[in-house]
Amino acid sequence: MVPPVRPHRSRPRTVVPEAPSLILAGRALVGGRLQPVEIAVGEDGTIRSIGRTRSGAPRHDVGDAVILPAATDLHVHLRGPDGKSGPEAVARSTREAALGGVTLVGDMPNSDPPVDSVDRLESKEASVRGQAAVDVLLYASPVRPTAVESLARRAGGFKIFLSPTTGIDEPPTGAELDALLARLSGLGLPVSVHAEDPARFRPQVPAGDPLGWDMRRPPEAETAAVDRLVAAPAALRLHVAHVTIPGTVETLRNRGVSFESTPHHLLLSARAGADARFKVNPPLRSETERRALWDAFARGEIPCLASDHAPHPVEAKALEFERAPSGMPGVETMLPLLLARVRAGDLSLATLVAAACERPARWLGQPLGRLAPGHRANFLVVDFRARTRIAASALAGAVGWSAFDGWEAIRPREHWRDGQRVVDGGEYVGRAAGAVVRPEYAPAPPEAVGPLRSV
Ligand code: DOR
Ligand code: ZN
Repeated sequence: MVPPVRPHRSRPRTVVPEAPSLILAGRALVGGRLQPVEIAVGEDGTIRSIGRTRSGAPRHDVGDAVILPAATDLHVHLRGPDGKSGPEAVARSTREAALGGVTLVGDMPNSDPPVDSVDRLESKEASVRGQAAVDVLLYASPVRPTAVESLARRAGGFKIFLSPTTGIDEPPTGAELDALLARLSGLGLPVSVHAEDPARFRPQVPAGDPLGWDMRRPPEAETAAVDRLVAAPAALRLHVAHVTIPGTVETLRNRGVSFESTPHHLLLSARAGADARFKVNPPLRSETERRALWDAFARGEIPCLASDHAPHPVEAKALEFERAPSGMPGVETMLPLLLARVRAGDLSLATLVAAACERPARWLGQPLGRLAPGHRANFLVVDFRARTRIAASALAGAVGWSAFDGWEAIRPREHWRDGQRVVDGGEYVGRAAGAVVRPEYAPAPPEAVGPLRSV
């Protein structure tokens, strides 16, 4: 039976002293600086201690490579190239996640079929077991407010779409939306919201490229949706997905609401390319807005980084812009792209680790994302000298394209899960040991966007 969500307990599992079974030695961020460390890992796959140890356990020394906590991606769509969810889609996309340094993915419910009933949730759980390379938290999407309670007993969280997008034709509005948000409040489960208000869309604007798409679904649609959301009951464990403009960053920070931005909104403007590979919801924005969003991210003002991995097949993206689906693959490239920005000096490593590893894991109530006793021994080993370029054809994903083809990247050399290696030398070597997880605790609201403990 699934455990209930305990409110406001942000401490991870209790540490039981016991001899470590492995020592990982290398450099890690301690107190905001890279320092030599020894990380002792227990038999149960959790971190026992950080610092010097006298233990005679087997030692794995990574030299001057850097040990980071593995990342959590709050926002992926585990779909196969046929657009369907199922075991094959889970196996493929979670392998991409492992290679990209992501140890836990939050899977969105606007799949085919959509996760709007307990039966469908159970069938998604079944497709994760024995297939997933990393852990998976399943979001559900209640169509009617009355479905909330039964779904809440099993789901890892909820996703609410305020506008039409892939698989969503009729989003809830007005009193129905208010009733839904009221039912979701106080459950203790995370609720991620796609925040665009379709009443602000301009359907008459021609949208033959990303510039037109940005005018059709303009920034005002995001502002209007966010203004409505911040008036939701305070007990709602609210998280706003894929924020694209600096005004939203300010509003949500002022209210202490959790949110994410994607690598594509941070790194690509609506002028990055003219074809449908660059069609996403919400749209790519102007260079001025993108730059301001990036600056906010680099200042540590955007709490979470998430990929919105949406692997649409290349044939669908080759359609005329208006008819092509929105979304781009990203779970395998998210961290490597941002690690390259760290190496280039555009971003601090501590800011990236906070946004990609610590805060998302805390948001989902997981003992992950920090190199700290009691947390799971899920690490990455990163060699900042090993700079490469993204080659879309060489990615593990099924779709074979990336909007970041040719971009600089630093791929994790190793990825460890519960003290076992799942990526070695940049190759996947794991077993499909990923599990379905649910929140183990709920962070108190200021913790969602607030400062971090040192990692
Ligand atoms: O670009 C997007 N793709 N935005 C969304 O809101 C949905 C996603 C998808 O499901 O493909
Ligand atoms: Zn999405």
